[in-house]
This record gives sequence, C-alpha cells and structure tokens, in this order.
Amino acid sequence: MPDPIESTLAPSAQTSELINRLDLTPGNCAVVGLQWGDEGKGKMIDILSQRYDIVVRYNGGANAGHTVVVGDQKFALHLIPSGILYPDKMNVLGNGVVIDPQQVIKEIDGLRERGIEVGDNFKISDRAHVVFPYHKAQDVLFDHAVAKTWEIGALGTTGRGIGPCYADKALRSTAVRMGELLNLDRLKDKLACVVAIKNTMLKALADQCDEPFEPFDANVIFEHTAALAKRLAPHITDTSRLLHDGIANGKELLFEGANATLLDIDHGTYPYVTSSNCSSLGVPTGTGVPGHKIKHLVGIVKAYQTRVGGGPMPTELDDETGNRIRDRGHEYGTTTGRPRRCGWLDLIALKYSTTITGVTGIALMLFDVLATFEKLAVCVGYDYNGQTLDTFPADSEVLGQVKPILKEVDGFADEITECRSWDELPAAAQQYVELIEQHVGVPVRTISVGPRRDQTLLR
Ligand code: GDP
Ligand code: IMO
Ligand code: MG
Repeated sequence: MPDPIESTLAPSAQTSELINRLDLTPGNCAVVGLQWGDEGKGKMIDILSQRYDIVVRYNGGANAGHTVVVGDQKFALHLIPSGILYPDKMNVLGNGVVIDPQQVIKEIDGLRERGIEVGDNFKISDRAHVVFPYHKAQDVLFDHAVAKTWEIGALGTTGRGIGPCYADKALRSTAVRMGELLNLDRLKDKLACVVAIKNTMLKALADQCDEPFEPFDANVIFEHTAALAKRLAPHITDTSRLLHDGIANGKELLFEGANATLLDIDHGTYPYVTSSNCSSLGVPTGTGVPGHKIKHLVGIVKAYQTRVGGGPMPTELDDETGNRIRDRGHEYGTTTGRPRRCGWLDLIALKYSTTITGVTGIALMLFDVLATFEKLAVCVGYDYNGQTLDTFPADSEVLGQVKPILKEVDGFADEITECRSWDELPAAAQQYVELIEQHVGVPVRTISVGPRRDQTLLR
C-alpha cells in the first residue's frame, strides 16, 4: 500500500506529461518572478521540481510566501524550498538567503505533521546569514521612524527582519552566519556584544517613534538559538560544494527565486524594494553557481499586476475593478495577510523585467482571474507630464507620477478554470496572450488557470 500522503502528492500523469511536452532540454533552470511578487512562483516551482534533482533558494528569507496546492491540500512555504513535496529531491537554502531559525523549525514541524519528510533532503548553507529577533524589531521600528520623519513614507516591509539582517551582512561585524551556530561558545560571546549594540540603537529608534522598547537579553537569545541550532545542525553544510558536486554527478538544479524582479535591490523600484537580488541575477552570488550554468530561465507573470507594501504602481486600480480583481484572485498576502494592491498588466514594466533577467519563456499565471470581465486593459506606455515614456524609469518618484497609457481589449465572458489546452481557451483569451508575447518578445510557454497542478496548460 502506498503511503496515503505520497500517493496524493505524487505527480499525476497529467503533470508528468506537461513536463515532457515542455521539453526542457538538459541543463539547470531558474524560476524568477517578473513583477512585484506573488506571481505564483510556488505553483510553478512545485510542478517543475519533478523534472529537476535539487531545488535551490538563492535570495530573500521568510518575507517570501510561496503557495503550493495539490488536490485539496494547500502548503504555504516561506523558507523551505517548494520542491519539498517530492521525497526524492534535495532542497537547499543557498548562501544568499537570510534565515530565521525559528521559522525554519516551524516549517519543518508543520510539514512533518502532514507526513512530509524533511531530513537529509534539506540543506542550509553555512554561509547564509541568521535573522535574530532584534532584526525583526529593527525592521518594524525603522519603518515607523522613517514614516514619521521622512516624506517617502514607510516601505511597508513584511517585518520579517530581512533588511536589517542583510544590512548586518554588509556591516560584517554584527552579522552571524549559519555556520556559526555550530560553535556555541563563540556564538555566546558574539551575541553578548551584538545584542548590547542593538539595544542602544533600538532604544534610540524607539524614543524617536515614541514607542516602548524592552531591551533584548543576550542570554535569552543565546539559549533559544542554541536549542534551535541543535536541531538545525544536521542540515547546515557547505551548499555551494554540494551543488557543484551535484552538477559534476549529472544532477540538474532548479533555482527558486523569492520576491521578484521589480523588488530587486539594484534593479527594482528603489527604495521600495526588498534587500536582495531577487532577479535571476542573484543566482550566482546567492548560491556559488556561476550564471553560465543556467540553461533555462522561466519568468513567472501574473496576468494582471499586484503589489503589497509601499511604492509606485502605475496601473493600480483604486476602484470597483481593482476590488473585483482582488476578490477573484484572493489577493491577500501569504506572509502578512495584507490586501494586495491590484491593477492592469503593465507591459512596460514587464518588458523591462524580461530584459533584465533574460528569461527564455514565460509562465502566465492566474489567467482565470481575468475571466468574466467585459473589457480588459494593458499598459503600453507611460504619460509623464505630457511626454510619452516607453521605457521603465529608474526613479521611483518619476514612476509615481506617470499616468498609464492603457490599451483596451476584449474580455472573455466564460470561466476558463476547466480549460486544459490552448484550443479550449476563448479567442479573446488567446489574443490577450499573443498581445503579451508581441510586446515583450518572449514566448508564453505555460498558462495557469487555477491554483492546482492540473490547472495548467501548454501554449
Ligand atoms: P508566489 O509568492 O509567487 O509563490 O505566489 P503566492 O503563493 O504568494 O500567491 C499566488 C496565489 O495564487 C496563491 O494563493 C496560489 O495558490 C494562487 N495561484 C497560483 N496560480 C493560480 C492560478 O492560475 N489561478 C488562481 N486562481 N490562483 C492561482
Ligand atoms: P514572494 O516570494 C510580495 C515586499 C514587501 C515590501 C517590500 C520590502 O512571496 O513573491 P521586506 O520585508 O522584504 O523588506 O519588504 O517588499 N515583498 C514582497 N511582496 N511578495 C513577496 O515575496 C515579497 N517579499 C517582499 O511587501 O513592500
Ligand atoms: Mg508570495
């Protein structure tokens, strides 16, 4: 008798055939979000995982929320790679990831409770950086302080300590890497020093925001971390070596991007971004695997635009249409539960992210959400004080002032969640896909019409 969980989570013949027909020739593959996150990366990484041997996160931390739906089961993964549902795949958190040990343990326990094995199939880089409770406090206090004192307003971070942890990585002396959890004597001394510095800084920040602040106790943090470290120790290793050994032995890698290209710290809508290179450009630095080892690059694109947190979003619909998209797409954050801002697909932004990332194909997601609208629209230009921009501006202030130039197209009346082939899609839906391809010059390879694996069709 097969294990009941395994038999329900194992890939169906339909998804296996989809992978075969996608014809991903030998080589490694990277999956990257091309908008402001939540494009449906989790779903596609889960599907693609059956074709690869090792699934590797290269950036971000628990700010990510990747949803995988199999049958009637739903999994929300923040740190553990989305390949974890396949018992024979290796899952890796690369050196570019910032890791909250408590969150990892919570996810491991949650998965095990549901019968999913997390053991030798899960490895964490000894070079990855550790997120501590004071990073989360700093994240929230800093965003409050900035919102109160500076006109740009809050970034609206996830409060998961991501920015402060990467900042410490760049500062070096106040940072702790996962490998250091294996030497507890040294960790104890280091935490005593770092926590004292953090308390001084956080107290000043809290005073500025008129908020209460309870200093952190270095011993409490140490004891807690030491207990978590004991459980994580078997998973901590030199993952860049593991990946290179894997490549040398013919294993193929699937890189799982977290966050998305327009949130990339260098190429996104700065300063309204996250603190890592979440575009595919982050793969080499975040894993130790050189860029020329990536053969396929899949760009994940939601059929419309969403954004959580602050920052410009030219096609945002602050009206009934925006609410309708939010309701149909259940657009509430996987990590924070915040309602996502919704709007029409922005082809100027998409052209920019396909160029920056060099994606070789697009997976179009949540297409079913656009069904039943009489008319749809896509953004084909920006009006900036009477001047037409057809490229994506680097300055967020400019992006915040542009008006979208919209092209209206026919909608499709019928629901498409039961469509399983290109030919079954209504003509207006096919034309919408073709419009995207024409504008960005990258083929749409798959189309997703629902959250489940089987609700996926080939272009
Ligand atoms: P990620 O961060 O890119 O992995 O995306 P999230 O998991 O945060 O958000 C995507 C949401 O859309 C999840 O709830 C998915 O289950 C869901 N989803 C994915 N693909 C589709 C689709 O084609 N149609 C619908 N209706 N939902 C989808
Ligand atoms: P996935 O992987 C959507 C956004 C936050 C905030 C900004 C900075 O699920 O697509 P941070 O906590 O990273 O400092 O927040 O970035 N953000 C995301 N938005 N999806 C994500 O990840 C995100 N990761 C960060 O909302 O505006
Ligand atoms: Mg998400």
